[in-house]
Amino acid sequence: MALFGNKQEKTYDTGDLKVPVSLGVIMDGNGRWATQRHLPRSAGHKVGAENLKELCRNCVRYGVKYLTVYAFSTENWARPQPEVDFLMKLFVELFDKYDAELAEEGIRVRFTGDDSELPPKVREVCKTAEERSKDRPNMQLIVALNYGGRREILSSCRKIAEKVKDGSLDPSDITEQMISDNLYLPDVPDPELIIRPSGEMRLSNFLLWESAYSEFWVSDTLWPDFGYEDLTQAFRDFAGRDRRFGGLSKKESKN
Ligand code: IPE
Ligand code: IPE
Ligand code: MG
Repeated sequence: MALFGNKQEKTYDTGDLKVPVSLGVIMDGNGRWATQRHLPRSAGHKVGAENLKELCRNCVRYGVKYLTVYAFSTENWARPQPEVDFLMKLFVELFDKYDAELAEEGIRVRFTGDDSELPPKVREVCKTAEERSKDRPNMQLIVALNYGGRREILSSCRKIAEKVKDGSLDPSDITEQMISDNLYLPDVPDPELIIRPSGEMRLSNFLLWESAYSEFWVSDTLWPDFGYEDLTQAFRDFAGRDRRFGGLSKKESKN
């Protein structure tokens, strides 16, 4: 099978693991990674971007079907302008440069977020990446770019409000399912597991609606260093989670 980079093929550990169909990853800690090495924050973003390939490769091997990664939030515009500009330039480079490798892995690329605020060049690259990868079968890589969970819920509510306005829907008939159905990518299943490297215990506006029952896994590893071992540990811990969804655990419900 084709490899990302020149890395040796690993033996994938499958014992005592649970691999989610849909996984979310908050790629956090690039700045700290760079600062620890007395490098500019941009160096951390560069290595962080490289590391996305490794995550994709591992997720494909494990059989994840939908991988949603948080790349830029609706709040990240608050960063200094040179950092924002660097990130936008990186996104433009990234999806062109990585396409051959993503193609070899059979990875379809999609974007989620409010693209109306993105620079035209970024929008163009995103559109091309989506278009040329749309028939790839192995995994969907969903890049959250200018994404905010609140913005997404707002956009869903606006779409529903249009139907109320034109008289085709009564407010009392609005359901939770309708809100789900009007999110940015309604066909993508809610993530069963969300991983956040770098130790922060928060969602930072990531997949607010979709994460209602996601398991949350945090590691102290900074995103540029997050690798196979961390991912495997997350899947191992996920196997041990008792997902009750408000009910009782399987063991208890038999009594
Ligand atoms: C994540 O790393 C990348 C983006 C938010 C774009 P950070 O840049 O947030 O890194 P830290 O949290 O400052 O270490
Ligand atoms: C979340 O990280 C956004 C991304 C990783 C793209 P932040 O670094 O922006 O989150 P906060 O500011 O620590 O909450
Ligand atoms: Mg951060």
